[in-house]
Amino acid sequence: MHIIIRETHKAMSLEAARAVASLIQRKPSAVIGLATGETPIALYEELIRLHREERLDFSRVTTFNLDEYLGLAALHPGSFHHYMKKRLFDHVNLGKDRIRMLSGRFAADEKDAISRHCEEYEQAIAAAGGIDLQILGIGANGHIGFNEPGSSLGSRTRLVALQKKTQQDNAVFFDDDPDKVPHHAVTMGIGTILEAKSLLVLALGQHKAEIVRKALEGPVTAMVPASALQLHRNAIIILDNEAASLLTRDTDQSLTPPI
Ligand code: F6R
Repeated sequence: MHIIIRETHKAMSLEAARAVASLIQRKPSAVIGLATGETPIALYEELIRLHREERLDFSRVTTFNLDEYLGLAALHPGSFHHYMKKRLFDHVNLGKDRIRMLSGRFAADEKDAISRHCEEYEQAIAAAGGIDLQILGIGANGHIGFNEPGSSLGSRTRLVALQKKTQQDNAVFFDDDPDKVPHHAVTMGIGTILEAKSLLVLALGQHKAEIVRKALEGPVTAMVPASALQLHRNAIIILDNEAASLLTRDTDQSLTPPI
């Protein structure tokens, strides 16, 4: 794991955008895994700026999003489809047929249709040649994607139930009302995520410090899904000072990250 610590959210996001942009410059047909949530918003803003002002070209890039809520229309303001459209897709030259997202159109009891959909998603990732770079945030309960504590470290794309804590944390996208947050979602599995060739993990704020410490310095356990990051041979973790504040390991900031 290569840990990069920056003073501010802005500096962190610039560093993350630099890693994404350098991948696209090296490999214009890169396959990039995307995350939603509050953490990557400034990263997407910087990618849009790089596209507008420095002609960063997304025309051959393929994207796969990590997850989506179940039971929300794509245009629902809380859906990840809506988030991505508003925060990135509408502002860069990604081809529509190269944007892949899990669908939330199912009801939770349509189990067969959901597993077919998830299997097709896995096949689409494989057909694209696998994910070159997966962007990730870390939930305050340690989830990555929507793999809640207890998820198998080998799990694949599937239907999951969301924990109360996740519904509370994500209420900000649902009029601050946890009861409006869906109970189920579809998510890439931890096994799926670990197959990405590289991981770019972002965490910011004091409220993430404890889980960042557990994920990066604690035992690898299904009860802290983000601890699975320790198993990846090419994971870059970008933190702000607050999120890094409880780390005890020496994080050498002088080495250049591998991406
Ligand atoms: C989002 C996702 C989640 C978030 C995590 C952190 O697609 O899969 O794992 O990355 O919940 O969310 P924020 O960034 O809102 O703290």
